[in-house]
Amino acid sequence: MQHLRNTISNLRDEKPNIRIGFVPTMGFLHEGHASLLQAARQQCDIVVLSIFVNPLQFGPNEDFERYPRDEARDLALAKAAGTDIVFSPSTAEMYPRPSKTQILVSGVTERLCGASRPGHFDGVGIVVTKLFQIIQPDAAFFGMKDAQQVAVIKQLVTDLNMPVEIVPCAIIREQDGLAMSSRNVYLQPEEREQALVLSRTLKQVEQKVIEMGGNLPASELQQAIRKQIEEMPLADIDYVEILAYPDLEPIERMKDAKEAIIALAVRFGKTRLIDNVIIQLQ
Ligand code: PAJ
Repeated sequence: MQHLRNTISNLRDEKPNIRIGFVPTMGFLHEGHASLLQAARQQCDIVVLSIFVNPLQFGPNEDFERYPRDEARDLALAKAAGTDIVFSPSTAEMYPRPSKTQILVSGVTERLCGASRPGHFDGVGIVVTKLFQIIQPDAAFFGMKDAQQVAVIKQLVTDLNMPVEIVPCAIIREQDGLAMSSRNVYLQPEEREQALVLSRTLKQVEQKVIEMGGNLPASELQQAIRKQIEEMPLADIDYVEILAYPDLEPIERMKDAKEAIIALAVRFGKTRLIDNVIIQLQ
C-alpha cells in the first residue's frame, strides 16, 4: 500500500508507539537531575540518561579537568529514579575525530552565558544534536536552572525539525534556597553561606515585581539586585540581566514581555553559580 504524507508530523506518525524519554547530563547527579528522571519516568515508557562531560562546551580556563565525577553514586541515584538505560560514553566514543560540523544557534545565544562563555552553546548544540541522533528520544527533559540552554535547545529543535519534544522542568533548590548544582561541591563553607544571597534576592525581587504589577523599569531592578549581591564580600558578579523569555531580548519594563527572566551569574571564589526566576506578567 502506498501512503501520501504532506506534513512532517503526519510522516512521523508511522513510528512504533513507544515513548523514549531522555535526560542528558554531565553526571555528579543531584536531586535536580533526579527530578528530570522522575518526570521522564512519569511521561515515557523507557528512560535513558546520558552522562558525558562534554569538553566542547568548556572554555580554555574553565573547569573541564576538575569537573566532579562519581559514576558509582550516579548509577545508584539513576536507578532509584527509575532509569532504564545509562549511556556513559568516553570522549573518543563521542568524538572519534574532530567534528567538522558546527551547530550555531544565533540570537538566543548572544547574551547571558552565551556572552560570558564564548563558544559554550556551540558545544552544547553539537553534543545535544549528537545525543539526539544516537538515542532518538521522543521527549528530552531539561532543567530551567539553565533557562538559556532550554531556549537554545528549543530553537535548535524547531529550526531543524528534530522530532523531539523539549520538556522544561522546574529548578530544584536546597532547603535554604541555593539552586542545586554539581558545582556546589566546590564552594568553601563561607562562600556557600554568602551564595544564599542569590536565591534570596531573586525571591524578594519576584515578590516586589508581582506586587508592583510589572511597572518597574528593568534597569532599576537590575541595579537594586547588583547592589544587594555586592554586599557580600566574596561575590563577584559576572552578569545580572532582565530579558524577555524565551527570546532573550532586552525589555524596558517588566510587563513589556509576557514572560520576563531575571538571570544572574556570580562567582564565589573559583565557583561560578547561575540562578534565575521567570515571571509571568501578561
Ligand atoms: P548538567 O549541568 O549536568 O545538567 C543536566 C540537566 O540537569 C540540565 O538540563 C540542567 O538544567 C538540569 N539541572 C541542573 N541543576 C538543576 C536543578 N537544580 N534543578 C533542575 N534541573 C537542574 O546541562 C548540562 O549538564 C549540559 O549542558 C548538557 C545538556 C548535558 C549537555 O552537555
